Amino acid sequence: MNSLRRAARMGFEGVDSLFGRAFGPDWNPMYHLGTLGWFFYWIVCVSGIYLYIFFDTGITQAYESLEYITHVQWYAGGVMRSLHRYASDALIIVMMLHLLREFVMDRYRGARWFTWFTGVPLIWLVFACGISGYWMVWDVLAQYIAIASTEWLDSLGIFGQSIARNFLNEATLSGRFFTLMVFIHIAVPLFMLLVMWIHIQRQRNARVNPPQGLAIGTLGMLLVLSVVKPAVSQPPANLDRVPAVIDFDWFYLAGYPLLDHWPGLAVWALAGAGTLLLALMPLLPPARRSRVARVDLANCNGCGRCVDDCPYSAVALQPRTDAAAFSQEAVVSDNLCTACGICVGACPTSTPFRRATRLAPGINLPDMDLHELRDQLLAATESLTGTGRVMLFGCRHGPDIEWLRGPDTATMTLPCIAMLPPSFIDFLVSRKHADGVFLTGCSAGDCHYRLGQQWEDRRLAGARDPYLRARVPRERVGVCWAGLTGRSRLERELKAFRDRLWVLPPIERRKQWSVIKRIIEGEEGHG
Ligand code: HEM
Ligand code: SF4
Ligand code: SF4
Repeated sequence: MNSLRRAARMGFEGVDSLFGRAFGPDWNPMYHLGTLGWFFYWIVCVSGIYLYIFFDTGITQAYESLEYITHVQWYAGGVMRSLHRYASDALIIVMMLHLLREFVMDRYRGARWFTWFTGVPLIWLVFACGISGYWMVWDVLAQYIAIASTEWLDSLGIFGQSIARNFLNEATLSGRFFTLMVFIHIAVPLFMLLVMWIHIQRQRNARVNPPQGLAIGTLGMLLVLSVVKPAVSQPPANLDRVPAVIDFDWFYLAGYPLLDHWPGLAVWALAGAGTLLLALMPLLPPARRSRVARVDLANCNGCGRCVDDCPYSAVALQPRTDAAAFSQEAVVSDNLCTACGICVGACPTSTPFRRATRLAPGINLPDMDLHELRDQLLAATESLTGTGRVMLFGCRHGPDIEWLRGPDTATMTLPCIAMLPPSFIDFLVSRKHADGVFLTGCSAGDCHYRLGQQWEDRRLAGARDPYLRARVPRERVGVCWAGLTGRSRLERELKAFRDRLWVLPPIERRKQWSVIKRIIEGEEGHG
């Protein structure tokens, strides 16, 4: 399963990089599938409201009113109708890609189960919106949908009398069910908005708008498509005749041909089993969870930086529960924490300069204790040789960096690159443990933990607390967001970085860490 997922992930990253070349990392649509979903939703709503002004909800008048909108008012109503249809199709496409991407990238298990789980009803709701929309046109496609859908509903056997009877022939045709469809087509999107809002509740700073450029470009494309190939109705419905040819919308109606070949109940069983399987996916199998972040009250001053930086709203501030002079303290919710370590990188107490005592930050990952991490780091840099000694940090979800380890390169892999407090970079460079520090991780703009890359970039640029201090020469800090597929790019950029280090004035070598450690341990023993 893991090798299959890895292969799929490489495939996705390959497609990402193609889009990345065309759009750049900021506008890469593959990184904005969720926000594009919101964007298409709003286009559908706005165009839908416009259409509703001119739409006649009577079953016999609906078709005529849409013909008027499409052909007489083609410059406004016609364009709006096409936008309505194409944005609905685009919503299906981005939703399915979004689902597949979150699965392949393994961003749906563990603490993230809730976001996945609340995505599942959205699939049903999107389909309900689209199908009821096609129904309202009351052309031959609507006729097919009406008959197939009502027969499918009847197969459940829970309605007192057959609903399909309403669509037996022109004489039995009743506007009652049609009016219900109009109501559904308005009520479901409103309910969907509520579910979409719930869907992103566990994401801190959830993005719901695509970047402006991507939004304008996408809208422009839809507009061009609307003018070049306007959405039109098919011949009007006539229940006394079986339509010979129907143009199908495979985005919304792909499951309908199954109803022609399978009993309705079998299709219900398939749809129900599919939904259940999808909903249970986070448990099949559950993620192997690392132990969640822990707050050490003795070192927490309640500054709230961990709260600001946590991508999953897993840390909160609460009134102090000990006798310390601070008014608040951080508290971690075990259910929400993904053990990414970003909070550790944000905490002002995570500084390696406090060397005489055990390094105990206000918040720590039990499986990646910062004190041990500092020791490992010092041990790793101690054996580095040459004038281009590089400490290379990577993240678990980015490229493998172990193969780059060598006499002049030490490596360390963190859960997320933003677990690295900038003070560690300062420490390594200003204490001359390395000539340069190089960071890599997920592809630019696609952090596995949503915000880690963004926070680390801003910390290095001095734009977000905790800052990388100005005294650290920036030419000694390199970054390459390589992603899983960017192995050779990482190698190239690391080499170029080292070449640049060689021409910088040499930095004096630090006394060996093992010697310093012996001195400290000696002092502590004496004390
Ligand atoms: C109308 C359909 C949908 C829309 C508009 C939508 C929108 C979004 C948005 C805006 C985010 C947050 C992005 C961020 O700030 O990081 C998100 C996250 C997510 N969505 Fe959806 N979504 C939809 C359907 C689905 C479906 C069908 C699933 C899967 C069943 C799903 C699974 C997820 C997961 C797992 C995340 C969390 C990713 C993470 O933790 O990094 N979504 N979605
Ligand atoms: S960042 Fe550190 S000191 Fe500040 S509230 Fe969080 S744990 Fe406490
Ligand atoms: S490790 Fe820290 S930043 Fe990451 S989810 Fe847990 S509390 Fe939030």
